[in-house]
Amino acid sequence: MSIVIKGGTIVAADRSYAADILIEGDTIAAIGPNLSGDTVIDAEGAYVLPGGIDPHTHLEMPFMGTTTAETWESGTFAAVSGGTTMVVDFVIPGEGGMLPALDLWAERAARQASCDYGFHMSVTGWSEQIFGDMEKVVARGVNTFKHFMAYKGALMVNDDEMFGSFTRCAQLGALPLVHAENGDLVAALQQKYLADGVTGPEGHSYSRPPAVEGEATNRAIMIADAAGVPVYIVHTSSEEAHEAIRRARQAGQRVYGEPLIQHLLLDDSVYASPDWDFAAQRVMSPPFRDKRHQESLWAGLVSGSLQVVATDHCAFTLAQKQLGRGDFTRIPNGTGGLEDRMSLLWHNGVGTGRITMNEFVAVTSTNIAQILNIYPRKGAILPGSDADLVVWDPKASKTITAAGQKSVIDYNVFEGHKVTGLPRYTLSRGAVVWDAGRGSSPQPGRGQHVARPAFPAVSRAYATWKELVAPRPVNRAPEHMPIGV
Ligand code: URP
Ligand code: ZN
Ligand code: ZN
Ligand code: ZN
Repeated sequence: MSIVIKGGTIVAADRSYAADILIEGDTIAAIGPNLSGDTVIDAEGAYVLPGGIDPHTHLEMPFMGTTTAETWESGTFAAVSGGTTMVVDFVIPGEGGMLPALDLWAERAARQASCDYGFHMSVTGWSEQIFGDMEKVVARGVNTFKHFMAYKGALMVNDDEMFGSFTRCAQLGALPLVHAENGDLVAALQQKYLADGVTGPEGHSYSRPPAVEGEATNRAIMIADAAGVPVYIVHTSSEEAHEAIRRARQAGQRVYGEPLIQHLLLDDSVYASPDWDFAAQRVMSPPFRDKRHQESLWAGLVSGSLQVVATDHCAFTLAQKQLGRGDFTRIPNGTGGLEDRMSLLWHNGVGTGRITMNEFVAVTSTNIAQILNIYPRKGAILPGSDADLVVWDPKASKTITAAGQKSVIDYNVFEGHKVTGLPRYTLSRGAVVWDAGRGSSPQPGRGQHVARPAFPAVSRAYATWKELVAPRPVNRAPEHMPIGV
C-alpha cells in the first residue's frame, strides 16, 4: 500500500516548492509532480512540513518528590495532534545508575508511544562507574548527556564533575547538554526569600534572576572549551544567557541554544497574579522573564545565534503544584507545551513575519535533527527519509484551552491563546496518526526508538585544532640561555 500526498507546497528548511510526495512503507519513495498511489491525502491549500521534533520532554519523570503526570501515551498523542512526530526525553538515573534507567524509559516508551522517540541521558554525579556506563549508553543510541548546574542536593553537578563528563563526551563523540543556572546561588537565594517571608510562587522567580542563568551559561561554555567539546544549552531564557552563547559562537566555539516556546511568549507578570494556583502552574526553571528577554530570544532565532525551539514539556497537575503551598521551593518545577509548540510558533513567528516558513521548519525540525545526528532520516523531506510529515493548514485556527487538549493535566499555560495554522494530518513513518477532520486516537506501540549514533567529527576537529594551537616550549639556542643552564 502506497500513499501519495497531493496538491501541497513542500516547505523545507532551505526552500519551498509545489510537489506531491509518494510514501511506500515507512519512508518517502519519490517527490515530484503528478505522482499517484493507492491512497491519496489531500494537501490542497496546505503546506507539507517535516514533522516537528521536540528535543526536550520529561514524560513520567520522577522529580521533586512526585512524577510528571504526562504519560508516554498521552504525551506522544498530544505531540502528534500538534504536528510533532518525535520527542527526545530525558532519562534520570536512579539507584541502579544509567543502564537500568535507560531500560525503564525504553520499556515505557515502546509500550505507549504513538510517535518515534529518542533519549538523552542525565549525568547526576561523577564516578568510574559513570565513566564506563557512558560508553554503553552511547552504544545504545544515546549521544547526548545532560548536566544540571541547578537543583542542589538532587541532580546538580559541580564544575569538576562537568569537566570530567564533558571530557568523556569528547572521547565518545557525544554532545553535552546543560541546564545552566548557578545552583549554589539559587539555593542561597531561596533561603533568603523564605526567611524574608516570601513563600508564594513569586519567590521562585526572585530566586532565579537572569544573572544566575547568564553566569552559569558562561561557565558551562568555558568548561566545554577546556574539554574540547561542543555544548548545547537547554531552555535558554534570558538575554544574559543568549549573550554568552552569541559571544562564544563569534569566538569560534560550537555552542547551541534552545529557547522554549513558553519563554518566547509568556512573561514574569504571571508570578504577580493574586491567584496562587495560576502563578504556581507557571513555575518552571528558568522562570518566565521580563518581556525584554523575549525580544532577545526572537532575535537569536532570526539571526541564527539560537537554533531550536523546544518545550521542556514537564507537566504536573494542579494538585501536584499544590505540594508547594506555603513554600515555593516545593512547587514541582515544570510547564507543558508539547501539543501547542508548532501552532504557537507558526502563529506568533510566521504569522507576524518575525520568521519565515523555512526558518520555522529549521528551528522546529531540521536544525534539531542535524544537531542530534538523525538527519536526514528525520528533519527532512527527501527520498529515503522517514515519512514523518505534517500537512499544515495555514488557515485553520483554534483557541487553546485545557478543556480541549490531549494532555492529561488540568490547565494549560497558554489558555486563551488564539492560533492560526494547525495540522490537517500528521503522519508518523507513513501512517496517519492525526486527522483533524475525523479525529484520531492514540496508537500506543507505534512509535519506535530512533538510535542516534555518536558523531566524533566535531570532537576530532576540536582535538586537531587544539593540538595545533597548544602552548609549546620555546627552543632557545645555548648562547641565549643564562650561564649554567
Ligand atoms: O522546570 C523545569 N524546567 N522542569 C524540568 C526539569 C528541567 O530543569 O529541565
Ligand atoms: Zn532544566
Ligand atoms: Zn527539562
Ligand atoms: Zn641568536
